[in-house]
Amino acid sequence: MNSELIPVITIDGPTASGKGTLAHRVARVLGWHILDSGALYRLTALAVMNAGQDIDDQFAVAELARGLDVRFEGGQILLGGQDVTQAIRQEQVGNLASRVAAYEPVREALLARQRAFCRAPGLVADGRDMGTVVFPNARLKIFLDANVEERALRRHKQLKEKGFSANLSDLLEDLRARDLRDRSRAHAPLEAAADAVIVDSSHSGIEETVKVVLDHWSARVPG
Ligand code: DC
Repeated sequence: MNSELIPVITIDGPTASGKGTLAHRVARVLGWHILDSGALYRLTALAVMNAGQDIDDQFAVAELARGLDVRFEGGQILLGGQDVTQAIRQEQVGNLASRVAAYEPVREALLARQRAFCRAPGLVADGRDMGTVVFPNARLKIFLDANVEERALRRHKQLKEKGFSANLSDLLEDLRARDLRDRSRAHAPLEAAADAVIVDSSHSGIEETVKVVLDHWSARVPG
C-alpha cells in the first residue's frame, strides 16, 4: 500500500504522561503496528554508554544512532542481539536519551528508521515530535499531558514494579529538568502540533483515555 494511504495516529507528550501504555492499548484495539520512538533515543543513549563514546561529540553520537543494530520482537527490544528491554528503562538511560535527543544530527539519523514503521494496516506512533515532524500528515494527532506531580507518582510506581529503586523527590526533579530540556531544545521541541487534540490525563484512568482517543478516531473514519 502507498505509505501516504496508511493511517497513522500520533501520540506526543511529556515524559511519563502515559503515552506508551495508551499507544499500546489503542494499537491493540485497532490491530495496528506501534512505534515507541523514545526507545530509539534510549537505545542510542545505551549505545553511547556501551561504547564509552564522548556524549558531547554530536556527530559521533549520530553515527552510533545511524548504525544501531536493533530488533523489536514482540515485546522485546534487542540491541546487537542482546535483550535490553529493561536496561533502556533506567532513569540514567532516560536522562542521557534526553540529551542525545537535543542533537539535530541524531534526530536526522533516526528519521528514516522511524518512518519505516509505517506499515499497513496502520501505525500508532508515540514520542515528542510524531505529529510535528515525523508524521506531519497523520490522520489523528493526540497531545497527551498530565501535571508533573501526577507523572512523577506514576513513574515511581512503574519503576518499583520493575524492581528498580526510585526516590519520589529525585524523580520529580528529574522530570522537571527533562521537560524543560525537551520543550526548550532548538530542534523538534516537545510541543503540540497545531492540529493536535489536547488530552489531559491528570485525573483520568487509562480506560477513559483510551476511549477518548478511539472516539476521536471513529469520528474521523467514514462509515
Ligand atoms: O518517551 P521516553 O521517555 O522513552 O523518551 C526518552 C527521551 O527521548 C525523552 O527525554 C526525549 C527523547 N525523545 C524525543 O526527543 N523525541 C521522541 N520522538 C521520543 C523521545
